[in-house]
Amino acid sequence: MIKKGIILAGGLGTRMSPITKSVNKQLLPIYDKPLIYYPLSIFMLAGIKEILIIVNKGQTAQFKKILKNGESLGIKIQYKEQKNPNGLPEAFLLGEKFINNDCVALILGDNFFYAQSLTKSLQKATKLKNGAKVFLHPVNNPKLYGIATIKNKKIVSLKEKPSVTKSNLAVTGLYFFDKNVVKLSKTLKPSKRNELEIIDLLNKYRKKNKLTAEFLGRGGAWLDAGSIDDYYDTTSFVSAIQKRQGFKIACLEEIALNKKWINNKIMKENIKFYGNCDYSRYLKKLL
Ligand code: G1P
Repeated sequence: MIKKGIILAGGLGTRMSPITKSVNKQLLPIYDKPLIYYPLSIFMLAGIKEILIIVNKGQTAQFKKILKNGESLGIKIQYKEQKNPNGLPEAFLLGEKFINNDCVALILGDNFFYAQSLTKSLQKATKLKNGAKVFLHPVNNPKLYGIATIKNKKIVSLKEKPSVTKSNLAVTGLYFFDKNVVKLSKTLKPSKRNELEIIDLLNKYRKKNKLTAEFLGRGGAWLDAGSIDDYYDTTSFVSAIQKRQGFKIACLEEIALNKKWINNKIMKENIKFYGNCDYSRYLKKLL
């Protein structure tokens, strides 16, 4: 059972400069809440309550200002600063103490997921004990992502940003690993772009026949809010769904309340914390 998760919320946000020169991308708004709320909501829906957020050097205070130690959401949040972003598997090296020989999930701080039976597939993924699991979703431009080729429901190849590929199945930024993840990450060598690659780590599992995949399904959406266009597409998506249906995507307090991780008293404190805003009014309606 996976109870721990790491959110990788560092990075320079170069593709979104100058917007990201002084503010961390994950604290910028996706419609009505900071980007970090969305990946955090995914962990909460999965039932993951012990969370490590990896942030850039000197940025812990900014994240703490909004998420604190997680108590107001009924979860536990720790922070770890990263000097330089050296690739996704670095999360497991920086998080070694936090992981402490347990299984762990990883989500990228700028990844957005929305799908019909997502909670079910997430809960299924947290049952992992042995091996690794990825979530796959088709994309229009496979050159930009880690790409999986599937044969007879098995992943037969995994490539990072392939220049030529017949598959359009991207490896999304949500991963579940067994307790060997730290040990295996330590054996990785930097790639041509001078980063430790998550695809290289996943290939180690695949070669041992220990990599499985889940699919978001045709009606699902996966967006990586890392470029200006994708960022605004994500905002439009959230705005359209919320306005039409009247519920909020990634309302952390709503998830915590539904799971009975927080009570009405804590909800009221949260409403006070947010102040007079649309988000607070939504929380009030939930009470
Ligand atoms: C990273 C991973 C890639 C994955 C993508 C998802 O890409 O290396 O395998 O598909 O995240 O967002 P990067 O952000 O480094 O381009």
